Amino acid sequence: MGVNKMRIIRARDYKDMSEKAASIIWAQMLLKKNSVLGLATGGTVLGIYEILCEKYKEGELDFSSVKTLNLDEYVGLEGRHPQSYRHYMDKNLFEKVNILKNNTFLPNGLAEDLKRECKDYDETIRQLGPIDLQLLGLGRNGHIGFNEPDDHFEDNTHVRRLNETTIKDNSRFFEMGEEVPKSAITMGIKPIMESKAVLLAVSGVEKAKALKAVLNGPVTPSVPGSILGKHENLIVVADLDALMHVE
Ligand code: F6R
Repeated sequence: MGVNKMRIIRARDYKDMSEKAASIIWAQMLLKKNSVLGLATGGTVLGIYEILCEKYKEGELDFSSVKTLNLDEYVGLEGRHPQSYRHYMDKNLFEKVNILKNNTFLPNGLAEDLKRECKDYDETIRQLGPIDLQLLGLGRNGHIGFNEPDDHFEDNTHVRRLNETTIKDNSRFFEMGEEVPKSAITMGIKPIMESKAVLLAVSGVEKAKALKAVLNGPVTPSVPGSILGKHENLIVVADLDALMHVE
């Protein structure tokens, strides 16, 4: 049923995908100055943030009333660690635009009581939400946020042990010999599904199988992204490489 409402925007390549996805975020911010944006980290969305920063520099975008909620953070990395997602967001977006730091939210990977931290993050999401536009990347194994393949969907923020493929994929961002965190705090499926719109950005042949499973396969927790087929307002922006197996 939801599949009919899904919109797939085909991009030529990574650059084109980044431009098209950024323009949707840009439009969202023009339509609602005080948008609540759900944000992701990783390689796919870097180009999108670059374009948003350029638009800000050109005076086209205003982040002063925007609030952001990120999907996830590694357990055990402090915000200043170069591989923490807080650091990634500061460096690639927040410090380059006029967003108020107090309006940017990520789970705290250093919290002593991680269960409490998960509850607190859900409460923050509840207070700020629903998210107007949730930006998502897609894991090679079909994960969204760090909702990894499992036998059930996890609704709320939780600590998740990362799968071997995810640890391997993420190791490219770490120095040789540096330990890649084995677990992360991630937003659950519920606030993602309750977002008013979801923008799934996908690029590259290595994501093609996962994207096919998300778009053409059954809804199953073994491919967490497949739940997006049930979202009322899903926009997929993907390049031709990522779309190669999609019917
Ligand atoms: C990151 C996140 C992850 C990534 C996914 C794709 O905050 O939640 O789900 O979006 O692992 O990562 P890249 O874009 O590096 O391939």
